[in-house]
Amino acid sequence: MEIIIQDGYEAISTQAAQIVAQTLNAKPDAVLGLATGSTPLGLYKELIRMHQQEGLDFSQVTTFNLDEYVGLPKQHSQSYHYFMHENLFQHINISEQNIYIPSGTTSNYQAFCEWYEQRIVECGGIDLQILGIGSDGHMAFNEPGSSLGSRTRIKTLTSQTIEDNARFFESSDEVPVYSITMGVGTILEARKIILLANGAGKAEAVAAAIEGPVTSMCTASALQMHRDTIFLLDQESAGNLKMTQYYQWIQDKMPGAP
Ligand code: GLP
Repeated sequence: MEIIIQDGYEAISTQAAQIVAQTLNAKPDAVLGLATGSTPLGLYKELIRMHQQEGLDFSQVTTFNLDEYVGLPKQHSQSYHYFMHENLFQHINISEQNIYIPSGTTSNYQAFCEWYEQRIVECGGIDLQILGIGSDGHMAFNEPGSSLGSRTRIKTLTSQTIEDNARFFESSDEVPVYSITMGVGTILEARKIILLANGAGKAEAVAAAIEGPVTSMCTASALQMHRDTIFLLDQESAGNLKMTQYYQWIQDKMPGAP
């Protein structure tokens, strides 16, 4: 794991965008795993800028989103389909047929989940997965208690997540109770992972994920088992970490590493 602590949100967003750009420059037909939520908005904004001003090319890229609310149609303003089109896809030159987002309105969820897993494999697996983190330590919608080997499936949201996400809806009663989400096991198969976090509200979850035990009570802690994960944090979200000085020391010493 690499822990990078930056001064602020803009810096983590820019650095994440640079890693995405490096990935696409090395492999123009890369498969990206994408996340929703407020955290990756700065990254998406920077990718749009890079596309418009520097010609960053998405024409051969395939994307798989992590999750979707069950019951929200694609055109619902709080669906993750809508979010992705509004905040990224409509501004870049990605081909519509290369965009995969779990369906929140399928008639057969089990079959859909199996198909989704199979499509990821058929597309060659995810090269770079972008993640945020929930205040309860979840990644995607893998709430506490999710098996660390879980695959794409239906997951019931916790009342904390419903409360956290209620700010986007008229009231918490309108937040769907069920989601369809890639599993922890699915996420861990990505070749490279970047988890972004900002703000003091994430400090506890970030510390549990990085320095706590590997446990299904904080599903992001499963990233400790992954061979190539970068945590991109602002000062506030890194506020509860104990080994901060060492993480900084590693960054300082990196240029001289053999
Ligand atoms: C939702 C999403 C997660 C996201 C989390 C944090 O629960 N399913 O993928 O990481 O929210 O959201 P935010 O970035 O808005 O804090």
